[in-house]
Amino acid sequence: MLPLPDYDFLPTGTHDEEARENFCRGLAIKLAADIRPPLKTLYEAEVKPAFEAEHRREPSFREIAKEMRKQTRTQLWYRMRTDNQDRMYAVTGDMISRQATTLTERAIAASGTNGSLTLDSSVAMPRYLTEVDIHRKPGGYHLETIENDISPGAQYERTIAVHNMGSQGINNDDPAQSIATWIRTTYPDLKPMQILDLGCTIGNNTLPYKSVFPEAKVFGVDVSAPCLRYAHARACALGTDVHFHQADAQKTGFADNSFDVIVSRILLHETSAKALPGVIQECHRLLKPGGLMLHCDAPQFDALTPYQASLRDWDATCNNEPFMLTVYDMSLKDLYSDHGFLPESYIQTFVTGLYIKEQNIDPNATPGFGASYFVTGAIK
Ligand SMILES: C[S@@+](CC[C@H](N)C(=O)[O-])C[C@H]1O[C@@H](n2cnc3c(N)ncnc32)[C@H](O)[C@@H]1O
Repeated sequence: MLPLPDYDFLPTGTHDEEARENFCRGLAIKLAADIRPPLKTLYEAEVKPAFEAEHRREPSFREIAKEMRKQTRTQLWYRMRTDNQDRMYAVTGDMISRQATTLTERAIAASGTNGSLTLDSSVAMPRYLTEVDIHRKPGGYHLETIENDISPGAQYERTIAVHNMGSQGINNDDPAQSIATWIRTTYPDLKPMQILDLGCTIGNNTLPYKSVFPEAKVFGVDVSAPCLRYAHARACALGTDVHFHQADAQKTGFADNSFDVIVSRILLHETSAKALPGVIQECHRLLKPGGLMLHCDAPQFDALTPYQASLRDWDATCNNEPFMLTVYDMSLKDLYSDHGFLPESYIQTFVTGLYIKEQNIDPNATPGFGASYFVTGAIK
C-alpha cells in the first residue's frame, strides 16, 4: 500500500492498479540501487581509459554521457527506466480518468474553508510546458478535460507518492519542512510576514512555510489551473491558510518589495533559457531589501563529479527535461548577481532532511530516501 493522506478527492486504485504501482516503485529502486551502480565500473574500467587514450584528457560530463550511451548495458538501463516512467503514468492515468468527475466534485466541496484560490484564465502556459509532455506525463501539468478539472493535480499527488514512497513524509512535504526550518534557524532576524512559493504545483511544499512561520501570509503561484484547484482543496482538507494564485512566475502581478522570502522547489530546471532570467528578475522586484530568495533543485554540476553530472543525461534525453543540463551547468551566482542580488550574499548549500533524522532512517541503506536538499539563493 502506498503511504497516502486520506482526503476523499485523492484517486484510489483497484488491487491490480496498486500492485502495478508497487511494481513501478520496486523496479525504480532496483534500477537505481542495483542496476545503475555497475555502469560506473564499466565507465572507469573501459570507457574512461579509452577516451583518455584517444583524446589525452579527461572527458566532460557531456562526453561521458555520449560515450556511455553507446554501451549496450547503458541502453538497457535507459530503456527500462523510460518504460517504468510510462508504466507509472499509465496506471495512475487509468485511475484518474475513471474517477475524474467524482474527484473534481469532492475537491470543490472541500474548497473554500482556508486561504484562497485566485485563477486567471488569461495566463498563458509557457511554450516550454506545451511543446513537450514534461517527465513523459501525458498532458503535462495543465491539460483539462472536464470543467473545473483537478486531474493533473490528483495525478501529481499519486505519482509523487509512488516516487517517494513515504521518504518525504505522508504529505510529501519534507523538503519544505526542512528548508523552512533551516531558514528560521539560519536567519533568526528575518521574521517573514509575506512568503511566496513559485511553481507550487499542488502546494505540498508550500504548506510547511505556514506551519513554520504561522505569522506569515503564505502564497503559492503556478501557471497550472488544475494543479492549483487541487492545491487549494488539499490545503483546505489539511486546514492550512495558503493563498494560491494562477500566474507566470516571470510576471506575478504582486507589488514591488512585497515579500520577505521567495522560494521554489524544482522549478528552475523546468523553465527555459528565456524564462529563467525573467523569474530571477521577478524575484528581485518582489523582494523587500534584505529579503531572501532560495531555490531548491537537484545539485548544480559544480557540486558533482563529471560522472555524477553525466547521470542526468537520461532525464534530458528520455524524460523530456530539455533545459536541465543547461541550468545545472550554468553559474547561478552570476545569474543572480546579473539580476541585482549581492554576489557576496550567494548561498549554495545542502539542507539536512528532517524526516530521515526524526525517523532514524539510514539513507544509504534505504534507496530513495534523501538525506539533504540542495539550495541556492541570494539576498536582495
Ligand atoms: C516540478 S513542478 C514543482 C513541484 C513542487 N514545487 C513540489 O515541490 O513538488 C514545476 C511546477 O512549476 C510550474 N511552472 C513552470 N513554469 C512556470 C512559470 N513560468 N510560472 C509559474 N509556474 C511555472 C509548473 O506548472 C509545475 O507545476
